Amino acid sequence: MLTVTQAIRQRRSIRRFKPDLMPDDAILEILEAARLAPSSSNRQPWRFIVVTDKDEKTRLRKICFDQAFIEEAPVVFVCCVDLTAYSKASREKRSQESIDYGVTETLSGYFADPAFRELFLNEPDSDLNVHFTSAMANTYIAVEHMALTATALGLGSCWVGALGEGGELTEMFGLQPTTLPVAVLPVGYPAQDPPPRPRIPLSDILLRPLPVRSK
Ligand SMILES: Cc1cc2nc3c(=O)[nH]c(=O)nc-3n(C[C@H](O)[C@H](O)[C@H](O)COP(=O)(O)O)c2cc1C
Repeated sequence: MLTVTQAIRQRRSIRRFKPDLMPDDAILEILEAARLAPSSSNRQPWRFIVVTDKDEKTRLRKICFDQAFIEEAPVVFVCCVDLTAYSKASREKRSQESIDYGVTETLSGYFADPAFRELFLNEPDSDLNVHFTSAMANTYIAVEHMALTATALGLGSCWVGALGEGGELTEMFGLQPTTLPVAVLPVGYPAQDPPPRPRIPLSDILLRPLPVRSK
């Protein structure tokens, strides 16, 4: 198993897979990596469907802009957000867990103030759709945990954000209106070894120079 840094450096988008099946343990390990991801207020809005059936993979390929590697991969994770993770009932449950597990005592600033937390907790249930961006951001963290774990296990993956024209995945899996697909992640043994895609240099991603540190 690779270290996190090795997995980050070695991960590539893999778009050709060997037909070999992957062990159930690997599937579980990848899902565990998602489960352990961080999320704002520990909402954990991610939900997954594990697809191994040939016909389902063919349908997924068609929906996801006919990308052949989706059908080729032995396992495809359909990654969704569940907006009900932001309902008042879920909020209360998570908050109680934080108290029970002693996490509340580790909070800082406004969040350490019981009155502020109470306000936050008692906000009425708004239209759950307003939480979509946050739910997607949190779920993307979980999906990248999955991609890195796949690499660490000697597997390959490729993020797929091309999820069809709208509604097809919902229909295919009979999803609730509050459950929205945000990514598809085919995983399997790589049948290619692509060179790293270029990245822009550090100087282009720093909005100001690094602080000069004196010893
Ligand atoms: C949110 C997201 C959606 C993506 N969707 C697709 C996709 O639909 N098809 C595809 O071939 N690659 C897709 N990619 C992969 C990117 O093209 C790839 O990560 C990028 O070119 C860098 O290459 P690397 O992953 O090999 O480092 C997606 C990546 C992300 C993060």
